[in-house]
Formats: sequence, structure tokens, C-alpha cells
Amino acid sequence: MSEDDKIWAQLARVYHTYGSPFKPTDEDSRLTKEAVASGWNGAADIPARSLLLMGVTPLLASLDWGKGVTVTAVDSSKAMIDALWPGDVPGRRRAVRGDWRDVRSLGYVYDAAIGDGVFNLMGFPDGLRALLRALSEVLRDGGVLVTRAFTRPAIRERPVDVLTQMYQGQIEEFSMFELRLLMAAQSGVQDGMTLSAAAAMWHDVIRAAGATSLTGEARWETQATETLQRWNESTFAMTFPTLEEIRNVVCEEFVEMSVAYPSYPLGERCPTVSWRLRRKA
Ligand SMILES: C[S@@+](CC[C@H](N)C(=O)[O-])C[C@H]1O[C@@H](n2cnc3c(N)ncnc32)[C@H](O)[C@@H]1O
Repeated sequence: MSEDDKIWAQLARVYHTYGSPFKPTDEDSRLTKEAVASGWNGAADIPARSLLLMGVTPLLASLDWGKGVTVTAVDSSKAMIDALWPGDVPGRRRAVRGDWRDVRSLGYVYDAAIGDGVFNLMGFPDGLRALLRALSEVLRDGGVLVTRAFTRPAIRERPVDVLTQMYQGQIEEFSMFELRLLMAAQSGVQDGMTLSAAAAMWHDVIRAAGATSLTGEARWETQATETLQRWNESTFAMTFPTLEEIRNVVCEEFVEMSVAYPSYPLGERCPTVSWRLRRKA
């Protein structure tokens, strides 16, 4: 099992305990649906449409697109599909195993592609470029791409400040702490952030403070222990570009249509952005 397979198999086991913003909320899935609908409204009226879902995010998998829309979910992890996919419905939705960067080999074409946090799983900028190239090969002319992206603020926080705020009880949700720590721990977007490096920073702060608890919050200790166990050895990396950095790469293949920010705390770092594929030559 590769390092990536391992991390997704672990996530499949604990996905139900996961919170927002890592997991999208109803508001996020509504923003995705509205962005796709608005992108399709501007295009010719087509009786049957096809939509690519990158991943098997339950809230996106269960969106009702109405008659005439077929959803194909593509995910490389059997464990995630087995744990989260609500089941194939002939003519409406199916899940297949595959790599988004090689999505053409599945032989389908799409009118839209959606996915939650998918850009953050790609190396930056080369991995993101490879994904965009692959999508441009399977999207029809004028096809729509909508994704929620985890975007780092222009001024990077210091990991020690995020950890101190957690110890002082100033962070509302454990997953907000995780996201902020991962973003803060990334020294350069090109290097990304390995989970083990973020774990090491966390351990350093605990040691330096002589703290006896991982979080200072009794209600989070179990989650923190599990998270650190997953992160400690993992070379799995995420990248957190700013929205501007993402735009600079995506605009090579796509034209931006809209940006919408959710209302939850930290929503300013979790925009849902929509793009339209530039006309193919
Ligand atoms: C959609 S993403 C992010 C998780 C999302 N925030 C959520 O709450 O569901 C997670 C999924 O992407 C899949 N994945 C990651 N990289 C992939 C790739 N290159 N090709 C196909 N699937 C991939 C993983 O297997 C995992 O199931």
C-alpha cells in the first residue's frame, strides 16, 4: 500500500468524526451546486449532462442534480469508496477507481468537474498543472470546474502562535486548529507540508512548554492522539497556496467565473471557486 493509500484508508475509518472546515458543510455543497448551475446556464441547453466528482465526499455525492445528469465519482482509494460512496444508481451515478491525473483513460467526457479540497492534494505548481491538463482533456468546450480550495492567507501564521492559541482555548473546533497548523507549518508552497513535519512542530511546542496535554482541551485529547498517530510517520504532503497563487496557475487553462466564501469561522480560507475551460484550439 502506498503512503497515499495508507492515509486515505486511515481517513476512511475516522471520516465520521471529522469536522468542518476539512469536511464541507451544507453551505459549501450549496455553493458548489449553485456555481455549477450558473456555469451551465450560460452554456447551450443540453438535455443530458455528465459531471465528474473528484473523490467521494458524501455531501457532494448526494447532491441532487435533477434528471438527465450522470455523475461519475473518481477516487484512487478503494477504502474511501467502500466507506463513503452511497452506492451506484444506474443512469444517475457510479463510482470508479482511478487517478484524476489520468482521468482520460476512463473514456468519459464531462460538462463539469467538482471536488472538495482537491487542489491542496496536488504538488504546486506542477501537480496542479498536471491535474488541470487532465481535466481540460475530459471537459467539453466551455466545461465548468468548481472546487472548494483551502487557501493560505497572504501573511503566514507562526505554528507556535496557532498552538499557543489552542492551549489557551481560543480555537473553536479541532479541525480548525488542524487546518491552521498545517497552513502555518508550510514554509514554502512548492515544498508543501508533510504531515510528519507538522507533527514534529506540534511535539516541539509541547516539549518546550513542558505541557502534559496534547491540546489543553480535555474534549480534544482523543482526536489529537489519533491525529498525531496518523501524522507522525507520514510523508503524505498537502500544499496550501494563496488564492492568488492558485489563480496564476488555473488561469493558464481556465477563465474564472466566481468566488464564494462560506459563513463559518475560517470561511475566508475556504472559498468555492468556479472556472470555465478556455475554448480548445
Ligand atoms: C476529495 S479529497 C479531500 C477530502 C474532502 N475534503 C472531503 O471531506 O471528502 C479526498 C479524496 O481524494 C482522493 N484522492 C487524492 N488524490 C487523488 C488522485 N490523484 N486521484 C484520485 N483520487 C485521489 C482520496 O483517495 C480521497 O478519497
